[in-house]
Amino acid sequence: MDAFTRREVMGAGALAFAGSSLLTAPAPGEAQQSAGGRSIERLVHWRFHLGHAADVEQDFGFGRDQRTFAKAGWGTADAAMPKFDDSGWAEVQVPHDWAVGLPFAPPSSPPAKDRADSMAAHGFKAIGRAHPENSIGWYRAPIRVSAADKGRRLWLEFDGVFRDAIVFVNGYIVARNQSGYAPFRVGIDDFLDYDGGPNVITVRADATLGEGWFYEGAGIYRHVDLVRADPLHIPQWGSVIRTDVRANGALVTTATDVLNSGDAPVSAVLRQSLAAPSGAIVATLPDVALQLAAGEQRTLEQQAFLAAPQLWSLDARNLYVLRSEVHSGGNLVDQVDTRFGIRTIVFDSQRGFFLNGRPVKLLGTANHQDHAGVGTGIPDALHRWRVAQLQSMGSNAWRSAHNPPATALLDACDEMGMLMIVEQRINSSDEEAQSELARIVRRDRNHPSVILWSLGNEEPHQASERGARINAELKAHVHRLDPTRPTTFAMDQGWDTGIGRVVDVLGFNYRTDKIEGYHQRHPEQPVYGSETGSTVATRGEYANDPARHIVRAYDTEHPWWATTAEEWWTIVADRPYIAGGFVWTGFDYRGEPTPYAEFPSISSQFGILDTCGFPKDNYYYYRAWWRPDEPLVHLLPHWTWPGREGEAIEVWAHGNTEEVELKLNGRSLGRKSMPRNRHLEWRVPYAPGRLEAIGFDRGRAVAHDTRETTGPPHSLSLVADRRMARPGDVVIVNVTVLDARGRPVPTADNLLRFSVSGGTVIGVGNGNPNSIEPDVASQRKAFNGLAQAIVRLAHGPVDIRVASDGLASSRVRIIAL
Ligand code: GAL
Repeated sequence: MDAFTRREVMGAGALAFAGSSLLTAPAPGEAQQSAGGRSIERLVHWRFHLGHAADVEQDFGFGRDQRTFAKAGWGTADAAMPKFDDSGWAEVQVPHDWAVGLPFAPPSSPPAKDRADSMAAHGFKAIGRAHPENSIGWYRAPIRVSAADKGRRLWLEFDGVFRDAIVFVNGYIVARNQSGYAPFRVGIDDFLDYDGGPNVITVRADATLGEGWFYEGAGIYRHVDLVRADPLHIPQWGSVIRTDVRANGALVTTATDVLNSGDAPVSAVLRQSLAAPSGAIVATLPDVALQLAAGEQRTLEQQAFLAAPQLWSLDARNLYVLRSEVHSGGNLVDQVDTRFGIRTIVFDSQRGFFLNGRPVKLLGTANHQDHAGVGTGIPDALHRWRVAQLQSMGSNAWRSAHNPPATALLDACDEMGMLMIVEQRINSSDEEAQSELARIVRRDRNHPSVILWSLGNEEPHQASERGARINAELKAHVHRLDPTRPTTFAMDQGWDTGIGRVVDVLGFNYRTDKIEGYHQRHPEQPVYGSETGSTVATRGEYANDPARHIVRAYDTEHPWWATTAEEWWTIVADRPYIAGGFVWTGFDYRGEPTPYAEFPSISSQFGILDTCGFPKDNYYYYRAWWRPDEPLVHLLPHWTWPGREGEAIEVWAHGNTEEVELKLNGRSLGRKSMPRNRHLEWRVPYAPGRLEAIGFDRGRAVAHDTRETTGPPHSLSLVADRRMARPGDVVIVNVTVLDARGRPVPTADNLLRFSVSGGTVIGVGNGNPNSIEPDVASQRKAFNGLAQAIVRLAHGPVDIRVASDGLASSRVRIIAL
């Protein structure tokens, strides 16, 4: 690696020095922060009511007498007016997805066959054109405004609303945002009452139309922040930090916008400093004095040289903070902290992906955004929990398919060391799509976890000249906003043409065996598997049963366009030039029910984990080969097959030890060598008892797994993901049904009832792709022995209990921090 010369180092505006300590960076998700003239308030509590897409009166007068857009702030909608009585509306907390609480809508005949059918696509929730009564959602939140706010700038930052959102302030229509995924900002200060009157934000979201062929949820499903700032301030996403890392240090280049939105010229000083991951200030940049005319915005570039940067990596998630202060007239008038990481990324067409100069195979999964119980309204702690489940399998990369992720997920990836592909939703170069793209890149470009901008996925124009034109435009746009990361596109055919010729790094959806030929024809272009696998499997099931829409969980079942886990991974594992692969999918997701598209299949069965994040058996295949240094053996199926005595059962072992020995009731059934990146199989005549696999390395037993024939359900075991959490936060609690000897009963389907003191169950699930039990409930049947509840803490301590008729109950206590 080159080093910086003395001249380059001295040219930087600031040199590293050890100094005082900066306040810790704002924790994402914090309800209220304030510094300088700025305050940020997270709007968590809203009132909610369904509207109506076809009935004006049930839609709170929206559209009455055609006058919605006739006069500013008058006649727009009853529910938009500050004095509207919303006391009968539900109290909800954002993130909120109203679709997950809707009933399921069995299709009328004939049943939906087409996998793009909109009802099936959205998991048969009663939403969309056929259900105008469920497709509009109204939200209201009062905000506190005082005389002291007069003259300040107030704006709302929405991270994502599904979809077609109209934002009202005190009856005024102040913004309209089509995209269900792109963030947007709404200035509101002109519309407020500063003299003690009520001030109400109203949002009408229209989820009649979808953007995807998968479940998308509905409503304000990501965070909303109310920001107050001086007219002289740093606008949203106002700082970009780029780093150039060489052998003797890192040059940090900052570009910070300062806006004078007032009506008189001002003199200001921009003062910036860099804080190390410890919080200690490691560089102070020279003050920059500036004069700004009324309405003027300037971008100020500065540099600092850090001689011993702490790099961000998967193991050491070192996060720096750029603190930008704007001073005027001797006062601090604005302050913004922007988090970033110092790291290098390279996609090499011969050697794959490199992070900080070291090769890292992208062990990825592609995921949609929903989870059992809560749909797309994912609380921050659940985002982190989902990342952790994938990491426990050895995964280090996530493709946010087919839309940009929530900021909360990106924060989790930065903090936990998960690489991310951010994908745009609409692959077009029209003005609206370009605006969405710009907002996504501007929002996400300081996140060290982000390694690629994906322009799109399998568009009908992917292999065409027109597709190439559109994507050349998008690529240029992305590179203007962020020259530091490559663009990509996920293609499923025609890689040698169209968009394949345009993007920097090319993604292959399935057809992993075609990558080799392509690489030979285009050795200059880096490649990876943007969708790999993918098997379909029902957790804990071991025989296909089309009548029940059940798919066996051996690594054998997949649609015609896909492969098994073993087939794709054996191709990618041994070819360094393939940067890695993203399994379709990490988690089962609602909608696009595959392989059974008919009701009551409400989710896909592609996941390595189910919709609750409970691992299916393939999880252990990946864990074995993606964490090769940790000896593992995993046996399937379970060993409770009453009535099948003497019948040959197909037994598999996933694992990574040199040899595996199988024993039934203490008797050896032989030892086999485990072929690299594959699995082992036996046929074992069923006899109740204990099936045991022992993994050996160099003759020593280093891993072990057993399956025992269990008795009937006897008791429950409740386990929370954390023993302590903050009020307002959620914990994820998993239930296992046990027999009298404490062994998980693999087929148990008991109805479980949750009760909580000091908190609320906000959703339940069991991972059954064919279950149409309600998600927003406090009871759920177990599915193959497991179920899950997501519990929000009100205050502490929180006692969570699960009970079921005839079974011993279980409880867990969470301490509120
Ligand atoms: C791909 C597509 C995904 C999903 C998947 C199902 O072609 O990109 O969104 O539909 O197929 O196998």
